[in-house]
Amino acid sequence: MTRLEVAPPHDHPVLIGRGLEPPQPQGPVALVYDAAVEPLALKLAKQARPELTLRLEGGEASKRLAVYEDLLREFARARLPRDAEVWALGGGTVTDLAGFAAASYLRGVAWLAWPTTTLAMVDAAVGGKTGVNLPEGKNLVGAFHPPRGVYAELAALDTLPEATFREGLVEAFKHGLIAGDAALLAPWDLAPGRPELEPYLARAVTVKIGVVERDFKESGERMKLNLGHTLAHALEAASGHALAHGHAVAWGLLFAALLGRELGGEDLTQPVLRLLAWTRAPAPPTGGWADFAGYVARDKKNRSGGLRWVVPYAAGDVRVEPVAEAALRAAFNAWREHAAGYSG
Ligand code: GLY
Repeated sequence: MTRLEVAPPHDHPVLIGRGLEPPQPQGPVALVYDAAVEPLALKLAKQARPELTLRLEGGEASKRLAVYEDLLREFARARLPRDAEVWALGGGTVTDLAGFAAASYLRGVAWLAWPTTTLAMVDAAVGGKTGVNLPEGKNLVGAFHPPRGVYAELAALDTLPEATFREGLVEAFKHGLIAGDAALLAPWDLAPGRPELEPYLARAVTVKIGVVERDFKESGERMKLNLGHTLAHALEAASGHALAHGHAVAWGLLFAALLGRELGGEDLTQPVLRLLAWTRAPAPPTGGWADFAGYVARDKKNRSGGLRWVVPYAAGDVRVEPVAEAALRAAFNAWREHAAGYSG
């Protein structure tokens, strides 16, 4: 088992391992779990004896205001008190949603994240971002509300479809580009149950913890975690959310790599192309720059001073800066050529 610590003021442990012991609840527990991991939820329920157990269908479609309202009303009907704890067991949509319900119920109760996908373990459940989507865009409503602990139970990955396992590791690869950690850029032999998995996940989480400790509220360095995400969000929206988040980010990373190259940086396209093939990402939606520009302009990272892009000049040299339209178009055209020739 690996135990990592997030430093004060938002201090809490992040545990990664198999057969994790749940902590002593500090009050009545509301267990909110993803239907996909029901056996694990039932096991946890035996240990934690929750006051309330709520089953959700995971997936992006659940991460909306109506489901958030249902959760809050269930909490209220059960008269959960201020010292209650929400235990969120599931992928990133469930930890985001239940974490946001915890952030706002009675103006905030404690919560524990039990991420059950690679994506949630290395990214969504670490760093205290919680929230829901609006029809107008992803993650437009939410709160920074760090959990009391993150429990990444590796047994959850045994039943995760291989495609989802690999797709989630795109975010770990992204952390490797940000930190210049070569080990994170080579997930090729990883699979559930492999001994290399726990140290790999721990390295990825360590990068995220470092960034979040230095910039919890995303006023500067944390924006680097959006590497590849501006185009990714546009691709997800253009595909009607048929394109999985990790696959969209992998395509977004290719665009970022081409943009870095266009701006004089190192050529990082080869490892990203290998990542796309390894994750078996489907081809992205078709469309030209003009089709995506509308989505991109609505991206929530659009600040009043203009849109800033996260540009990788080299692994370990990632900068957040405005980029001229001509360079964006050139990188997009090169990206579109790769997408057109892509056979998976
Ligand atoms: N997933 C990006 C962040 O936590 O800031």
